Amino acid sequence: MFYPFELEKYLEDLLPNRDTLLLEMEQAALEETIPVVTPGVGNFLQLLVETTGARSVLEIGTAIGYSTMYLAKGVTKTGGKVVTIDMNRGRMERAIEYLRRAGLDAQVEYKIENALHYLPRVSEPFDFIFIDAAKGEYPQYLDLLVPLVRTGGILVVDNVLFRGWVVPGSTFDEKYNKMVGAVRDFLNKLVHLPGFRVSILPFGDGLAIARKEG
Ligand SMILES: C[S@@+](CC[C@H](N)C(=O)[O-])C[C@H]1O[C@@H](n2cnc3c(N)ncnc32)[C@H](O)[C@@H]1O
Repeated sequence: MFYPFELEKYLEDLLPNRDTLLLEMEQAALEETIPVVTPGVGNFLQLLVETTGARSVLEIGTAIGYSTMYLAKGVTKTGGKVVTIDMNRGRMERAIEYLRRAGLDAQVEYKIENALHYLPRVSEPFDFIFIDAAKGEYPQYLDLLVPLVRTGGILVVDNVLFRGWVVPGSTFDEKYNKMVGAVRDFLNKLVHLPGFRVSILPFGDGLAIARKEG
């Protein structure tokens, strides 16, 4: 978080009420330290899907399906579909069950596979791609995903400020060196990507939005 806890809490209180299933997922993620987007980011993802009218959505990093839930709610308004991928079978099975309970499973296609192996086989473009997987792999995702963003479509990436550690001179445990380096490389590549208009928001853990221009 890049603003005071009180402000974060205030903004969270202004969000629409979350249903019991979303609250149950938040509790499970908290208890099991599964990193999921903040409720504010989830709400924003749904709003982005709805306002861009995205019909084909790809998510890299499902975990237990918390962000998938917001994306799936978004595509119910656009008449679209979400393809979500995670290589952790146990987490994905839980995501499938949560989305079934929400009545949203018809909106979602699940892939249990390493995204780095799956993506080179994909050829159809997407209107909206959300990346929220291993930070150390972010630069590789950019190469694989740029051709898969439809002209006029957007790429949305979570954790791009990585607790603020991307800022030169930040102090953090050296075990994070590689990940912080990868996120910095990723951001550098992203902001110089030809044909994309990019915005980086200090929201949640840092959210990048890149639109492929015609
Ligand atoms: C931060 S969690 C995703 C959280 C989820 N987007 C949410 O907010 O509810 C990251 C997930 O990415 C998955 N992951 C990491 N590297 C991956 C890869 N190369 N291929 C597929 N899944 C991967 C992990 O198994 C993990 O469940």
